Amino acid sequence: MKTILVTGGMGFIGSHTVIDLMKNNYQVVIVDNLSNSSKEVLAVLERLTKKTIPFYPLDVREKKDLEKIFQAKQIDAVIHFAGSKAVAESVEKPLSYYDNNVIGCINLLEVMCAYSVKKLVFSSSATVYGEPEKMPLIETDKTGATNPYGRTKLFIEHILKDLCQSDPLWDVISLRYFNPLGAHESGDIGEDPKGIPNNLAPYITQVAIGKLEKLHVFGNDYPTKDGTCIRDYIHVMDLAVGHRAAIEYLKNRHFGYEVFNLGSGTGFSVLEIINSFEKAIGREIPFVFDERRAGDIPISYADTDKARKQLGWNIEKTIEDMCKDAWRWQKKHPNGFL
Ligand code: WQD
Repeated sequence: MKTILVTGGMGFIGSHTVIDLMKNNYQVVIVDNLSNSSKEVLAVLERLTKKTIPFYPLDVREKKDLEKIFQAKQIDAVIHFAGSKAVAESVEKPLSYYDNNVIGCINLLEVMCAYSVKKLVFSSSATVYGEPEKMPLIETDKTGATNPYGRTKLFIEHILKDLCQSDPLWDVISLRYFNPLGAHESGDIGEDPKGIPNNLAPYITQVAIGKLEKLHVFGNDYPTKDGTCIRDYIHVMDLAVGHRAAIEYLKNRHFGYEVFNLGSGTGFSVLEIINSFEKAIGREIPFVFDERRAGDIPISYADTDKARKQLGWNIEKTIEDMCKDAWRWQKKHPNGFL
């Protein structure tokens, strides 16, 4: 298995995964419609990997265009990142999320079937666990998304499971990410949200560079050690390595469908993240406590046994690495990619 098609490969997790794959002698082909990423990323990826990368600026919903790639390139497996991923936006625009995420994935699967490419790693999310009853979260726990974005991920997981049951030639791994954080050590790629960041980390680093006035901490009355929500933050490069471990797992065996958590297994509160960033940045982050954000759950962190035992995958980066690397990216690119 040599050539991997990476859909959404110009995005945050996709671009970091491309670097790790190519550093480990995989050939990569990127498909991205650039709706939530910048074409500038390609030049950075080629500079960092010292190789040219075939890039197709297209949408996975364009079946004819997608087929051209499978005709032109010998694709051995696909990692499917392409999709919309903002929870709040999905509540406002559910149809666009079902179209882009679910229809887009079905389209990709149909083209893969037509060209007998039946090895897939799917970018899922811990959001599919919905309102969990116990911690840590284990892959066999009940699922039940509480927003359209999470439901698109959950629906796709079911579609993939059904597909594998219908055709034993398919092997699919769904990776349930917890909270991605950090950036490549070069500081030349990183999390580059459009407009005001929804996620905690880019909001903090934009406060630190003076683009935003102060952080609003959504709630300090949760049943946690300091009243703020606890999340499982994982370095984006550890996530990238997890995708390569999934590809390696696919390469050597037939198994049908598997799900793995990709988290650090440790929870940090919002106040602890602020403190970690203050240490990385060397100054205080101004913040105020605000009302709780609708849809937030108090605590979420992963049981990582299954990925460790079956994929042989372990995280290497610490929360300090995540904050240091995220800050380096933000300092070098105060306005992200233009
Ligand atoms: C983390 C904590 C907020 C911003 C989301 C998606 C999830 C995944 C990761 C895609 C929460 C608090 C945040 C702010 C704050 N994305 N916060 N002020 O909600 O855990 O997960 O991103 O797969 O699907 O749901 O991440 O970074 O938004 O929030 O206080 O300005 O930080 O309340 O407790 P979340 P987050």
